[in-house]
Amino acid sequence: MTAPAERRDLRRWAALAVALTVLAGAALRLVFVGHDPLGLGARFAAVRHAHSHLGYYLFLFPAAWLALRAAGGWVPGVRLAAAYGAVSLLAAAAFTVQGYGAVSIAASTAVGAVWAAEAVRRWRRFGDWRDASPVALALGLCLVVPIALMTRRDPPLAAHLARSFLTLLLLGALLPAWLGKGRWPAWAWLAATALAAFGGGFEWAPGRLVGYGACAVGLWQAVADAPLSHVARALWRATALGFAGYALGLPSAGHGASLAGVHFIALGPVAVQALLVRPGRPVSPLLWPYLATVGLMCAALLAGDLPWVPGSGLLATRVAAWSGVACAALLVAQLARRP
Ligand code: HEM
Repeated sequence: MTAPAERRDLRRWAALAVALTVLAGAALRLVFVGHDPLGLGARFAAVRHAHSHLGYYLFLFPAAWLALRAAGGWVPGVRLAAAYGAVSLLAAAAFTVQGYGAVSIAASTAVGAVWAAEAVRRWRRFGDWRDASPVALALGLCLVVPIALMTRRDPPLAAHLARSFLTLLLLGALLPAWLGKGRWPAWAWLAATALAAFGGGFEWAPGRLVGYGACAVGLWQAVADAPLSHVARALWRATALGFAGYALGLPSAGHGASLAGVHFIALGPVAVQALLVRPGRPVSPLLWPYLATVGLMCAALLAGDLPWVPGSGLLATRVAAWSGVACAALLVAQLARRP
C-alpha cells in the first residue's frame, strides 16, 4: 500500500476516535451540570477512563504518526494500524463497561506492545529532540507496571505516577513527533520533559518550574522552524506560553490547569494540524467558531482553579459544560463535512 493510502487510513482512525472522544467528553461535562439522560453519572470514572484512553490511543498517537509519515518517518503499516485501531476501540468499550478489568488491561497491553515496537523502530543515536521521543516512550512504558501495582496498594502514589506517565508521553514522546525537527539536543529535551513530568505529576514546584520552563523555550523555538499553517503555529505558540504560565504556577497549577492543558493541546494545535487545516484546501467557516469554543472551555477549566473569585467554581463548570458541548458538536460537524 502506498504512503498516501496509509495516511488516509490513519486519518480515518484519528477522525473516528476524535469524534467518539469528544462526544464522551461532552456527555461527561453535562453530568457536572446535572444533565445525565444516559445515566453516566453512576459510571463516571469508567467513562472518563474510556474517554481519556481513547483520546491518547486513537487520536494523539495516530496524529503523531501522520506527522511522522509526512516527514518520511516510521508509521505502522495498514494491517498493524487496523489491528491497533481495533484493540484501542475494544479497550475503550471495555473501560466503559468494566473499568480496569481483564479485557481493558489485555487490550491496553496490546496497545502498549505497538508503542514498544514504535520505540524500537524509531530508536537512534541521540541527535536533535526527535530522538528523545522513542526513549521517552520506552521510559513511559516502564511506568505502566508500577502504576498497575500501586493502584490498589497506594492509590495516591499511583495517581502521581499516572500523571507523570501521561505528561512524559505528551511532552517527551509526542510533541517532537508532531512538530518535527527541533533545535534542542535529544538529551536536553529528555531531561526537560522528565523534570516537567515528575515535577507536575508529584506537585514538586522546582521540578515543574525548570521542566516546564525549559519545555516552553524548546517548544517556542521548534515552532519557529516547523512547516505549519498560521493557525497551527499560533496555537502551538499559545501552548508554549501556557507551559511558561504552568511553570510559574499560574493561575494555580492545579487540576483545572492540567485538564485545560491536555484539552487545549489535543483540540487546538493537534486537531488543527492533523485534521482541520489541510494544505491546498480552503479553511472551513466552522474553524473559527470551533476554536472559540475550545478557548472558552479551556479558560473555564482554568478559572475553576481560582477559588478567590466568588462563585467562579459554579459559573466555570457551567461555561466549561456548554462550551464543551458546542466544541464537540462543531468538531463532529466539521469532520462530517471533510473527514
Ligand atoms: C481528542 C480530544 C480529547 C482528549 C485527547 C482528551 C483527553 C482527556 C484526558 C487525558 C483526561 C484525563 C485528564 C486528567 O485526569 O488529568 C480527560 C478528562 C476529561 N475530559 Fe477530555 N479529552 C478530549 C476532548 C474532550 C472534550 C471535547 C470534552 C468536553 C466536551 C472533554 C471532557 C472531559 C471531561 C469532563 C473529563 C473529566 C474531567 C474531570 O474528571 O474533572 N474532553 N480528557
